[in-house]
Amino acid sequence: MPTDEFGEASEAGEAGEGGGPLAAVVAKQEGDAAIERLRAEGVYDATRTVREFDADTIAVPVTDPPGTDVLRVVRQPGARRLRGLEDHLRERGWTDREIDRAPASWAVLGTVILVDIDGAPRPGELGEALLDLHGGADTVLARRGIAGPHREPAVEVVAGAGDTETVHTEHGTRYAMDLATVMFSPGNKAERARMGEVVAAGERVIDMFAGIGYFTLPMARAGADVTAIERNPAAFRYLLENVRLNDVESAVHPYRADCRDVLRAAATPPQSDGVDRVVMGYYDAHEYLDSALGPLVPGGVVHVHEATPEPLVFERPVERVRAAAAERDRTVEVLDARRVKTHSEGVVHVVVDARVD
Ligand SMILES: C[S@@+](CC[C@H](N)C(=O)[O-])C[C@H]1O[C@@H](n2cnc3c(N)ncnc32)[C@H](O)[C@@H]1O
Repeated sequence: MPTDEFGEASEAGEAGEGGGPLAAVVAKQEGDAAIERLRAEGVYDATRTVREFDADTIAVPVTDPPGTDVLRVVRQPGARRLRGLEDHLRERGWTDREIDRAPASWAVLGTVILVDIDGAPRPGELGEALLDLHGGADTVLARRGIAGPHREPAVEVVAGAGDTETVHTEHGTRYAMDLATVMFSPGNKAERARMGEVVAAGERVIDMFAGIGYFTLPMARAGADVTAIERNPAAFRYLLENVRLNDVESAVHPYRADCRDVLRAAATPPQSDGVDRVVMGYYDAHEYLDSALGPLVPGGVVHVHEATPEPLVFERPVERVRAAAAERDRTVEVLDARRVKTHSEGVVHVVVDARVD
């Protein structure tokens, strides 16, 4: 049964025909995708909040009846326009001082909102406000850090259903994951997209620290042939699921193993005639450089990630690549050196792209 704040829109459903602004009703699990479609169509009204319509559906505010498929179009009489998190928190009686301690950013990953709430008062209310703001989401997770060789996240459910599994779509790539067991770094979004852009169709690539397929999936979708290695069983399970979800089974060769073992085999004829690119998306990647260079053909490219203290940016990661290449009588041309994101106070997540001859 629809919640009682909605009225049926006339077939035409034109706005201004009395009875309040319009909303498009869609299935909850389609929430984010539907909002993206309506946004692309130019009818999504971000000045009003997405509201629950009934147990399975939500009402997405629209300025005009959409052309794309929705379940129905309804009117939303008297809908107060709450513009952002601040409005929602003020609606809950938060003071200016309390609102100043609310997070300025968060990530909506499918049906899960990931947020750093250090120091914010009343996390539960904050979480409810975020759910109101993002009607397609049903769980709010507070991030409490990532640790260990398997980079496992520590999270806490602060609001909603507590369902930590989600599917997040980014640049057309779909990532299924359980945010309580595997990490996902919103700050690496541009870097994930970039890896899909730097590869050429048919390139042979090794992703040494593949996780759930952060870089592997965009590269495989761009036509590369990717050997994806991940030793954490939980992450590997999602890697396999995401390879299916993105329909790249023929382009990805997954290995649940220590990457050093796979590379040793890859560098040993007659098994392989080498690879064109090696991706090292791990802060301790420098400890694996010797392994990485083994199967890399002359002229091949390595992407080395690192968490680098500001004074050592980019000198230290570049020197480490040069030293590892020199060990093998090989030379390095630095193609690019980038800041991916802030890692922590005074430390930067960087990546160095190097051609190794
Ligand atoms: C930091 S995560 C990957 C992050 C990813 N690059 C991103 O952009 O978000 C590193 C992954 O490497 C895996 N890993 C660490 N050491 C490994 C090894 N020796 N062999 C294979 N996988 C490894 C961890 O389990 C983890 O899933």
